[in-house]
Amino acid sequence: MIIAVDGPTASGKGTIAKALAAHFGLPHLDTGLLYRAVGRQCALNGGNPDDPADALAACAFADGLLADPELRSEASGGLASRVSIHPPVRQALYERQRAFATQPGGAVLDGRDIGTVIAPEAEVKLFVIASVAARAERRFREMQEQGRATSLDDIAADLEARDRRDATRATAPLLAAEDAVVLDTSLLTRDEAIARAIALVELQAAKR
Ligand code: C5P
Repeated sequence: MIIAVDGPTASGKGTIAKALAAHFGLPHLDTGLLYRAVGRQCALNGGNPDDPADALAACAFADGLLADPELRSEASGGLASRVSIHPPVRQALYERQRAFATQPGGAVLDGRDIGTVIAPEAEVKLFVIASVAARAERRFREMQEQGRATSLDDIAADLEARDRRDATRATAPLLAAEDAVVLDTSLLTRDEAIARAIALVELQAAKR
């Protein structure tokens, strides 16, 4: 069974995808991390993330970079959102994601275009959303726990800028697949969101 979990930044999709993978005994891929690694590598190369050639060159990052805690920072998220606009970058990361999705036994992938581009045949598609206020609050708490100095207003502005860039880009924009089920986590606790997601997966899988 392939489970596609898409949605905007800080919607809870990563937490939900990880929990679904554990619950159903499936491997999990956080595809945002791949784009974050490209953005970070581009910066390490001294490249310009808005330049398609510099961004493409950064796709040759070493796998060890995926363990770099710096990838979790807002700065890396912003760089990821800039390099991910370029179609050659998306193409370069396609095979890796596709191979993960189609491995025997299935997989859970979370990202922006899993249900639309990477695995349109996925048996289950969730589109996880939450209000900007709820997402900014969560991200703010995460940053505080990591000891990173930031303000709630800056986070909200950054989220909105990233949403706009992800939703309006020409290639693979952030968009719910027609057959995706929308899960709004704005008013749910972490455990409630996970329980709801598990129930939705069981319901969708039973319909197939
Ligand atoms: O999900 P996360 O916040 O880690 O993603 C960082 C950025 O990578 C997103 O803002 C988006 O621009 C890009 N991304 C993407 N397609 C994916 C996953 C992430 O374009 N499947």
